[in-house]
Amino acid sequence: MSVKPRILIPGGAGYIGSHVVLVTLLTRKYRVTVLDNYHNSFPTAIKRLEQIALQELPADASQQEKDDCKVDVFKGDLRNKDDIAKVFDSYKGQDRIDGVILVAALKAVGESSEIPIDYYAVNVTGLINLLTIMRENKCNKLVYSSSATVYGTPPKVPIPETSPLQPESVYGRTKLMGEMIIRDTCDAYPEFRAIALRYFNPAGAHSSGFIGEDPRGKPGNLLPLLAQMAVGKYREGGLKVFGNDYPTPDGSCVRDYIHIEDLAGGHVNALEALEKDSIFDKEKTETVGKYRAFNLGKGVGMSVFNMVDAMRKVSGYEFPHEVVGRRKGDVPDLTADPALAEKELGFKATRSLDDMSRDLWNWQSKNPNGYESQ
Ligand code: NAD
Ligand code: WQD
Repeated sequence: MSVKPRILIPGGAGYIGSHVVLVTLLTRKYRVTVLDNYHNSFPTAIKRLEQIALQELPADASQQEKDDCKVDVFKGDLRNKDDIAKVFDSYKGQDRIDGVILVAALKAVGESSEIPIDYYAVNVTGLINLLTIMRENKCNKLVYSSSATVYGTPPKVPIPETSPLQPESVYGRTKLMGEMIIRDTCDAYPEFRAIALRYFNPAGAHSSGFIGEDPRGKPGNLLPLLAQMAVGKYREGGLKVFGNDYPTPDGSCVRDYIHIEDLAGGHVNALEALEKDSIFDKEKTETVGKYRAFNLGKGVGMSVFNMVDAMRKVSGYEFPHEVVGRRKGDVPDLTADPALAEKELGFKATRSLDDMSRDLWNWQSKNPNGYESQ
């Protein structure tokens, strides 16, 4: 029996990472190793997703398939090259690490301008450390978590991948630098292949309600905040809606919210695409190397008030709110043009806004205190 390729997922314990690990296991085509320092996550997430993966196996699954639902976990930090080398050194021969999905990063826009060096250290130096160890171990496949934030304020919406890359925050610049470093690596080494996925606004949770987003402290992002308000937290003063005077249908900002399970699925599309020479045809790439970047969005814009209505419908909480001034750095509309990912990766986000709000509420109501609930 042939051995399944092993994929390393740094950041696999986090919100997006845990769903990516799960969907990768559910293909039954890969084995997974996670490297995480738990800066913003809990080991419980991995335990829980292993259980979901086991439960979803057919009754006649072999012992090997059950064993393959187990994730190898290394506690370690991308800023420390030895931590990464230790992971690669643990696998040799047929079991060597075949590819990497780099999800780990620091990701809070506001915080990034307060502690920029930490952001560059994790998101840029961490990436360079990873690429160095990958090269030393002849591991030449990478899927990279990028962000729609690299587009800054786009000149037109929906946003195609060819839109100018002009991030407006430290965080955004670390993500763009990451893309550039990876692109140059692909240019230098013809055997190195990489796909950057520019996520729009990931939302919701796995439909089991067993894994989901568990931010530390008061959430700065809209959906986790709504979910926590609905279970009774942060209600004082009501929801602050940041502006209702934008040039959008109801005056509030429009975003392209994409169900986390759809988004996670896009990583499997990318892993499979890395195997195909056709997506790296010269005329499709701006570069000489095997590097592509794709939007992962739904292509449907939703306003702040649309999201509040959706969460009210599932939770029954009224969300008293007050419109306050615009939040610094917000842009009126960030909606993806998802056509390229559909055409080249075969990726389509099919889950609806109702699915997102239902699954988010299912997770939050079952786990009012996140992973520390039980
Ligand atoms: P998260 O904080 O939940 O997950 C990140 C994971 O990386 C955590 O488990 C954290 O502990 C780990 N980590 C952080 N620093 C590390 C280090 N030095 N070494 C090892 N592990 C480390 O965040 P998320 O929302 O799951 O985001 C995942 C990725 O997606 C990030 O790269 C982020 O930039 C990108 N992204 C997120 C969003 C979003 O809205 N959540 C949107 C676009 C892009
Ligand atoms: C959504 C909308 C707010 C909170 C961020 C990052 C981006 C990406 C995804 C990583 C905006 C409004 C929010 C509140 C509000 N992350 N809002 N009241 O800003 O689109 O994107 O997460 O790559 O880089 O910037 O997401 O959830 O913070 O905000 O009115 O209390 O909700 O103004 O219009 P955002 P968000």
